[in-house]
Order: sequence, then structure tokens, then C-alpha cells
Amino acid sequence: MENDRANDKKGSFGAKVLSNKATRKRYWRLNLELDAAGSRLFLHVKPGQFAEFDLAGVSLPPASAIPAELCDAACRQIILRRPFSFSDVKLISDSPPAVSVEVLYRIAGPATLRMTTLKPGDRLDIIGPLGNGFSVPSGKSGAILIAGGMGSPPLQHLAEYLRANHPKTDVVVFAGAKSLDDFPFTVQAGDDGTAVPVEFARLGDRAWVATDDGSAGFHGLVTELAAQWLDENAPDPNETIIYGCGPEVMLAAVAGLAAAHGIDCQVSMERMMGCGIGLCQSCAVETAADAAGETVYKLCCKDGPVFESKDVSFRL
Ligand SMILES: Cc1cc2nc3c(=O)[nH]c(=O)nc-3n(C[C@H](O)[C@H](O)[C@H](O)COP(=O)(O)OP(=O)(O)OC[C@H]3O[C@@H](n4cnc5c(N)ncnc54)[C@H](O)[C@@H]3O)c2cc1C
Ligand code: FES
Repeated sequence: MENDRANDKKGSFGAKVLSNKATRKRYWRLNLELDAAGSRLFLHVKPGQFAEFDLAGVSLPPASAIPAELCDAACRQIILRRPFSFSDVKLISDSPPAVSVEVLYRIAGPATLRMTTLKPGDRLDIIGPLGNGFSVPSGKSGAILIAGGMGSPPLQHLAEYLRANHPKTDVVVFAGAKSLDDFPFTVQAGDDGTAVPVEFARLGDRAWVATDDGSAGFHGLVTELAAQWLDENAPDPNETIIYGCGPEVMLAAVAGLAAAHGIDCQVSMERMMGCGIGLCQSCAVETAADAAGETVYKLCCKDGPVFESKDVSFRL
């Protein structure tokens, strides 16, 4: 296996907001330029790695912009940093190196609500890059990316990474959400009436969407769509790898598909994170028992968030 998963260098650095725009109701796209220290650290960031953002000092939006169901939570103090992965990481200048990153986020509570007030020129304090990202084993000529809801950002980054570093890999993408309004990326109607996930399709990847309510693309679960494709196309298991990111119940289904087809599979897990650096033990992921039959817990922030799917005992 290519040793391109670990990237142990991490640190604290500053970032300047370049833009911060709503893409859909509750979904936003934040672009940041990292300072010199951050840019050096992010030169070799891997898709699936994440960073911890300090959002304590960011202002709340006006009351009229706070969704009713978040009114109570909105004023909570932001004591802990919040983890975010990246949908894109770009070198914008060579000498000295300057890196910009893109974060797609969904308003979920007080911290993400505050993020919506960030404007160009504002500064953020970040720690990263953290954790272990996706790896690209040698000998795999096909990659199947399966994203659910907010699971798409690291897979968008992975698709870009594969295009740049493994251009011969045949990439196929399945992205699912509850409804058309729940995709964090752009979905457009294709010429043949299909729904096209633009950020994946523009890389030349074959890419499809699925929605639980049938409002765009395949009507059903994204794993049902991927299962149909696997049955019809029967890719060579030795030459194929599946990557998944999304809700745990979806990842369990992805792991099941991979096992049924004998295909290697990596999944990016999510846990509530207190510290993001392996100190607080709040992010345990149960993994396969050791030789003595004892349950083994690993830390999502330090050992993951990306794990081999066969090693994970999913919480369902
Ligand atoms: C490795 C990693 C990468 C992430 N990448 C992204 C990303 O790219 N874009 C994005 O929008 N979000 C991402 N998240 C989730 C993001 O960290 C949370 O949405 C954010 O911390 C919510 O903060 P808040 O104060 O707005 O809401 P909170 O009040 O903290 O949370 C709102 C609700 O979301 C739930 N929640 C919060 N964090 C998590 C979590 N980690 N796992 C499961 N449930 C959670 C809470 O239980 C609560 O019900 C990522 C999380 C992890 C662990
Ligand atoms: S978040 Fe603290 S140990 Fe993982």
C-alpha cells in the first residue's frame, strides 16, 4: 500500500476569510487563505484530514437570520473548537507557498450559525491538519466514491486529489441526500434529464445523485444506486476500492456492499470531538476485537477519521 495516508505535521495558524456565501438554505461555502505557517502545513494535506476551528469570538447573526429551532441554542458559549474537513485545497502561489482551502458547512448549531457572519478579511485561528486521511493503495485502477449528505466535502477533495495524482484511476461517484435542498454542492439538470453533481462531473468523473424523496436523480438510497451499479458493472475487486463518507448508518451499508463484492473500502467516521488531538478520549470508535477477543476502541480524531471499513463495528 502506498504510504500516503499519514501526515503527522500539525500546528496552530491563522487564516483570512476570502469569501463566505450561502449556497442553499442552511448550506454555506467558506473560502480561506492560510497564513505562511498554515500554508506550509497544508502543502501535503490528505483528503479526509480535518482541522479544528476556534469560533468563540465570531458574532451571532441578527435574530431574524436565526432559524426558529436554533433560537435557544444560538446564545450558547462556544467553548470547544469545532472540526471541519475540506472540499478543496489549492496552492494559490508558489513562492512563498500560499494555500487556500474551501469548507462546505451546514448550519447545525451555535458555532456554524456564527460562521455565517464571517466576511472577507476576517481572521480565524485553526489547528490542523489533523487525523489520517484517505489512502490510495497501489494497483487500484478504479475508485468508487459514495457520499451521503454532509459527507461529500472530503470526497470532493479526494476526487480532485485522484485527478491530480492518479489521473489513470477511473473514478465513479454516487452522492445521496434526503432531498435536492440537502446537497452541499451544486446539482444541475443534465441534457438527458438526469441530475448532475457539478463539482464531481466537471472533473470528468462519472457521477450520479440519489435522493430519498426522489426530488433529484435516483429515487432511493445512495447505497441502493451504488448496489445496482456494482451488480451491473461487476468491477474487478482486486483493482477497485470504495471510499465512503456520510452518516454512520450509510457507512455501514457501504461496508456491507464492499464486503459482498470483496472490494477494499475506507470510510470516514464522525464523532463528537472535544479536543481533536487524542487527549480527551471523547471520540471512541469501536473496532474489531483483538486476538484475545477484547473489544478495541480507537480514537476517531487520531487513528481516524478514515478507517478500513472491515475494522469498524458500526453503531446502528
Ligand atoms: C472529522 C469531522 C469533519 C467534519 N466536517 C464537516 C464539514 O466539512 N462540514 C460541516 O458542516 N460539518 C462538518 N463536521 C461536523 C461539524 O463539526 C459540526 O456540525 C459542528 O461542530 C457543529 O457545531 P455547532 O456548534 O454549530 O452545533 P452543535 O450544537 O455542536 O451540534 C449541532 C447538532 O449536531 C450534532 N453534531 C455536532 N457535531 C457532530 C459530530 N462531529 N458528529 C455527529 N454529530 C454531531 C450535535 O449532536 C447536535 O445535535 C465534521 C465533523 C467531524 C468530526
Ligand atoms: S476528540 Fe479528544 S481524543 Fe479525540
